[in-house]
Amino acid sequence: MKRRVPPIGDLWRFLAPTFRVRREPWARVVTTEDLRRRAQRRTPRSVFDYVEGAAERELSVRRAVAAFERVILHPRVLRDVTGVDTTTTILGRQAALPIVFAPTGFTRMMHAAGEPAVARGAARAGIPYTLSTLGTTSIERLAEEAPDTDRWFQLYVSKDRDHVRELVSRAQAAGYRTLVLTVDVAVAGARHRDTHNGLTIPPTLTPRTLVGMLRKPRWLFDALTTEPVSFESLGAAGDVMGLINRVFDAGVTFEDVEWLRSEWSGPLVVKGIQRVDDALDAVAAGADGIAVSNHGGRQLDRAVTPLELLPAVVDAIADRAEVYLDGGVRSGADVAAADALGARAGFVGRPYLYALMAGGERGVDHLTSLLQNDYVRTLRLLGVSGTADLTSDLVELR
Ligand SMILES: Cc1cc2nc3c(=O)[nH]c(=O)nc-3n(C[C@H](O)[C@H](O)[C@H](O)COP(=O)(O)O)c2cc1C
Repeated sequence: MKRRVPPIGDLWRFLAPTFRVRREPWARVVTTEDLRRRAQRRTPRSVFDYVEGAAERELSVRRAVAAFERVILHPRVLRDVTGVDTTTTILGRQAALPIVFAPTGFTRMMHAAGEPAVARGAARAGIPYTLSTLGTTSIERLAEEAPDTDRWFQLYVSKDRDHVRELVSRAQAAGYRTLVLTVDVAVAGARHRDTHNGLTIPPTLTPRTLVGMLRKPRWLFDALTTEPVSFESLGAAGDVMGLINRVFDAGVTFEDVEWLRSEWSGPLVVKGIQRVDDALDAVAAGADGIAVSNHGGRQLDRAVTPLELLPAVVDAIADRAEVYLDGGVRSGADVAAADALGARAGFVGRPYLYALMAGGERGVDHLTSLLQNDYVRTLRLLGVSGTADLTSDLVELR
């Protein structure tokens, strides 16, 4: 057999070497996993582990992410998907995407730019942002620094109900639109990574933590040249688990949901629902929204996987409240799957913290553009031209 060897130039396109000083720094960051890796390179281990970690054996968090691998999509073809409308309404207000940034405590520990950077990123992406009770930016300062954001406030109910009332009225006065009551923290979960790492908030300088921080000079420089991390809304600091057990009340019940309903005039979301009967009771107590959530696996390990519980809760609640999926969302395709299974929106936690650690406010913008592109592409390939057309026949959990 005679072979004809084509000139190599026909097969390969050689790129002349370029000697630009710097490549476009975000061009190869195309997934949440890329952001996660970059975050890990830039933050001290104890800080990264605080974000990444979960309770006990960390089974819940792994299952929450893995549940999205069980999603089977049934795309339609030969539909005109030239234009895609990604918008939706969340509690009566239009959002550009069916995504809510979930509350996370201690955000300025991950990156000095902290909550304002994430909240401004949310505003640019047209989605709500939730400030945690354990935020490191006060209720009022966040409102000043992120005036255009659809700001939600997440509440933990402590034993001191007067203090709770004060937090709620501060949030109302500062223009927060939605109150999110987190109900899965009767006591602190056992986060073994933090114990092993000797993590305190704010981070303390033991010889071991100091070595970890010296390895991440950019993070350390930011931390040393900006205001110290503190719980700005609560005005307290110390060891996290001790704080949680001191400040939070193991005696909170559905009556407190009713009480908050009477204190708060805007929409009320109950976050941390893990059973259908509790979802029904929360709606009966006045919730406008239910976040099916196990706190990103950080509380009770082996608690039910949010994506798996979602359809049953959606079925039971019908149109009486909105239902959100919280836990394991890592891409726009995951958001589309959760929506098709009945969620009004997907809450996103760790991914925006990875983005923040990876590159501050610029990182958050990069994440939202990834989520947006991913969501649009998924809808088009599914043969639907808008969020409103994401129906349950498009998706199956196997
Ligand atoms: C570092 C970190 C801090 C968190 N702090 C809070 C908090 O203060 N209040 C709260 O309701 N949930 C908190 N959560 C849980 C998130 O709101 C959300 O439920 C969880 O991150 C969703 O899972 P995902 O990380 O897989 O998106 C925190 C999660 C992380 C990772």
